[in-house]
Amino acid sequence: MKKKLKEIIKKYGSNRSFLVPILQDIQREYDYLPREALNALSQLIDIPISHIYTVATFYKAFSLSPRGRHQLSLCMGTACHVRKAPQIRDHLVRKLQIEPGETTPDLEYSFNTVNCLGVCALGPILVADGEYHGQMTITKADKILKELEKKERTTKKVAADEN
Ligand code: FES
Repeated sequence: MKKKLKEIIKKYGSNRSFLVPILQDIQREYDYLPREALNALSQLIDIPISHIYTVATFYKAFSLSPRGRHQLSLCMGTACHVRKAPQIRDHLVRKLQIEPGETTPDLEYSFNTVNCLGVCALGPILVADGEYHGQMTITKADKILKELEKKERTTKKVAADEN
């Protein structure tokens, strides 16, 4: 891990002002920000670990824990909230057996809630793997989960066939 980290830092010349791009590169490499990488980064570019965590937790794009293969984000902004987003959230919590902000133990799904996504007229909005789905209902959410499961099975089958 340290070798990869050194390569990333080298790109930015150990410049502390490049902390955000360095963190972006680390996240791109591991798909999250591993604690060991942040500790090593702190030593390598001489930035207090507390400052690194402050930056890493400030930006929602950073994740401090491993993320699922599928990302689900449900808008809980006012317009979506009044159009029954809380019921959809509760349904997904029951179905996935995780709370918002968590990842399923099999690393299949990460689920979080977000504030207004700027497309209120289409609310409630569920974003699945970057794709926006409007006028969300519990039935539609279930359908999206089924499609993601199907996609996952196909991917695993293709991988198994290739081996
Ligand atoms: S409140 Fe959900 S998109 Fe604006």
